[in-house]
Amino acid sequence: MIGIASDHFGFELKEHIREFLELRGENVHDLGTHTREAVDYPDIGARVASAVRTGLVERGILVCGTGLGMAIIANKVPGVFAAPVSSVDLARAARRSNDTQIITLGAQVVSPEEACSIVEAWLATPFRGGRSARKVAKIRAVERRFCQERANDGPPRQGPGRPFREEGTVQRGREMSAGWAGEGPCGAMPEEA
Ligand code: RB5
Repeated sequence: MIGIASDHFGFELKEHIREFLELRGENVHDLGTHTREAVDYPDIGARVASAVRTGLVERGILVCGTGLGMAIIANKVPGVFAAPVSSVDLARAARRSNDTQIITLGAQVVSPEEACSIVEAWLATPFRGGRSARKVAKIRAVERRFCQERANDGPPRQGPGRPFREEGTVQRGREMSAGWAGEGPCGAMPEEA
């Protein structure tokens, strides 16, 4: 199932893509907007990202004016990987390298024909795994870390010159750097024990 949605800027393009997908025989869940009346893109983007997160849909396509706001809101939903895409090459990369479940399109950026080619390429491209899987796992680890900090009432307090680390973070850093030693999201990670 593919979830699709737009704000009012993306309404026409969303309708065009939905019809294109339905003609291809795809199972499409249209999550709005259903008129040209102004709506706020964060409300719509969160709806589709949440549907991906809960498994109601496997993939999502979001359309706004630029594709940017929709990408920003979708990526706020834990577990969701969304990318703004404006070419077929980027569409392939967004699956192959980034394992995105959502792409966002700008109605002011791509034509209806380009949008359909982008969607087609994105749906047809598999995730390549391997080194890319390791990098995607690191993104997930960063997300887990910051979600956990938020759940624990915010980040640890830092004094001047104090490294942005605490015991629990180092532990998660180890988990993130399993099999390699390098830079973590907040500086160098400790060597493996
Ligand atoms: C309108 O809200 C416009 O900002 C929106 O369609 C999108 O381009 C946001 O990034």
